Amino acid sequence: MNDYSFYLRLIHIPFGVFWAGGAMILAWYIIPAVKNSGPDGPRMMAAITGTNKFPVVLTISATITVVVGWILIYHNIEVFGKSWMGSPMGISLSTGGVLGTIALLIGLTVSKPTVTKIQKISAMIAETGNPPNDEQKLILGRLQNRLFVAARFIAILLAVTVILMAVARNAHMTH
Ligand code: HEM
Repeated sequence: MNDYSFYLRLIHIPFGVFWAGGAMILAWYIIPAVKNSGPDGPRMMAAITGTNKFPVVLTISATITVVVGWILIYHNIEVFGKSWMGSPMGISLSTGGVLGTIALLIGLTVSKPTVTKIQKISAMIAETGNPPNDEQKLILGRLQNRLFVAARFIAILLAVTVILMAVARNAHMTH
């Protein structure tokens, strides 16, 4: 089979699974665990976001999934014509694609800068050698909250995206 979409799916699906799974585990298990860990919470969060590069790997996987996903849409239009976009499969995949793309954009414009800010402030606090003062605690709390809300939103968007990907091939059967 000389159809290059095979290779695109081979990239798209594993990276998509890693991204969506990682984002869901983060939002629904890791973040609640961090929240319930009291004073150990921030150190746990720093270990997850800092040393093991989890956010970076997730961002790269997300970008690859979305870019390759849109190339797959383009490929389908090339093969089946523009009307494919209006077919149940086309609608299901492109709706999933839009939701997944929104999830990536929230990650890039909200989560990523927030993680960077938290890392900067935490590093500043660590340098002084003192525990965070009230103002620093307040700022960190707000930033963390923003990160947690964004993570939940992203996880829900990705859950819907994955369901739309799963049903796309049989979407016509529901019509
Ligand atoms: C959120 C993570 C995602 C996961 C886990 C995922 C998973 C999958 C899976 C399992 C398939 C195979 C469906 C089948 O062959 O029946 C698929 C196909 C496809 N996905 Fe995604 N996807 C994700 C995000 C996206 C995004 C953001 C786009 C952007 C447009 C996209 C576009 C497509 C397209 C066009 C196909 C059809 C490929 C073909 O022609 O066979 N996906 N995806």
